[in-house]
Amino acid sequence: MMPIGIDKIGFTTSQYVLNMSDLAQARGEDPEKFSQGLLLNALSIAPVTEDIISLAASAADQILSQEDKEKIDMVLLATESSVDQSKAGAVYIHSLLGIQPFARSLEFKEACYSATAALNYAKLHIEKHPESRVLVLASDIAKYGIGTPGESTQGAGALALLVTKEPRILTFNDDNIAQTRDIMDFWRPNYSTTPFVNGMYSTKQYLDSLKTTWAEYQKRFDGHLSDFAAFCFHIPFPKLALKGLNKIMDKSLTAEKKAQLLENFDASISYSSQVGNIYTGSLYLGFLSLLENSTDLNAGDKIGFFSYGSGAVSEIFSGQLVEGYQDQLKDKRQQDLDRRQPLSVADYEKLFYEEPQLDSAGNCQFQEYLTGPFALTAIKEHQRQYQRVINHDKT
Ligand code: HMG
Repeated sequence: MMPIGIDKIGFTTSQYVLNMSDLAQARGEDPEKFSQGLLLNALSIAPVTEDIISLAASAADQILSQEDKEKIDMVLLATESSVDQSKAGAVYIHSLLGIQPFARSLEFKEACYSATAALNYAKLHIEKHPESRVLVLASDIAKYGIGTPGESTQGAGALALLVTKEPRILTFNDDNIAQTRDIMDFWRPNYSTTPFVNGMYSTKQYLDSLKTTWAEYQKRFDGHLSDFAAFCFHIPFPKLALKGLNKIMDKSLTAEKKAQLLENFDASISYSSQVGNIYTGSLYLGFLSLLENSTDLNAGDKIGFFSYGSGAVSEIFSGQLVEGYQDQLKDKRQQDLDRRQPLSVADYEKLFYEEPQLDSAGNCQFQEYLTGPFALTAIKEHQRQYQRVINHDKT
């Protein structure tokens, strides 16, 4: 079978950061509740000029060559932080990146799960059209509200995944198992800018979806955890993913295998512990973090993925690392994270919750904030205006 999978990965987060210790102090919490209880150190905070479209365009801009732009014929944006109920964000991104016109651009939604569905669609498309390249974008801003229990698990960021035949990072195995269960653990009705969440219930559903989907995966594919070098999880906060790994680790594993899985788990949460929840991109941020921080991976290694989107849809699948995958990675990612500008809690409260103030004709100008290479620069007659900017170098 022709190998299909992930050829390149780009990642962008916002240029501002809130340290969890400052949030803990402001909210009267023990800082260890966040650093140990959630395994979170910091959250990326996006200003009003940085939305899912600017983030995703910036992430893709890191990886796309001119040849990619000529060969991409699908742009799939997975998000639950949509800026329009009708027009797909992917259409703006297609234009900002200068992708050739004969392409299909659309948006996918099912909470944190949808990037996994978009990858599946990309794979099916390339099976039929081997010369195509598909750009899958996972972009979200997780915003729960000041003083809510979810506040400590916010975040902002986008992943760009280029899916091709003969990929240079990961080939997909044909072993996906999905599960749907109609539950109300986390949802956001159209009239609300922040989600409703049954926090504790959502963590139980995440773990039970993992347990039951994993059991089905094992049954259908005779799967054993010992076959995997690493398992990546959806990471709403790293501690829950660790509980997930502990749930699927059984007594049959050797001490060496357990140690490898745990060491690679630590590598996979490094970025999320500094960025927070980026919803549908967070599983793939975990994968990128694993690739860029693990010292115990080799070509041919099997990597497991657990995708979970509230509501709820979950999926387990796997892929194999490709020879030379290291050449496709960036070495300065940590530097980019370290360059984010720290915010006081008061400034975070102002910046993260600012809403566009439209005049009666639907116009709005914004104050200049730090962003990635693309930003939302104005709204004119209700139309969002994006531009390539250079202010991200000011930090
Ligand atoms: P909470 O009330 O902040 O925290 O809610 P808690 O009291 O449950 O404490 C959290 C942990 O810290 C606990 O650890 C405490 O023991 C520990 P555990 O017992 O669970 O192992 N702790 C301490 N540890 C050390 N020193 C201390 C200390 N104090 C306490 N002093 C909750 C946490 C997750 C409920 C909240 O943050 C929340 O509602 N978050 C949003 C929902 C969420 O992230 N759910 C995850 C599953 S659903 C999902 O993944 C989908 C999602 O991404 C959305 C989508 O699909 O679109 C959310």
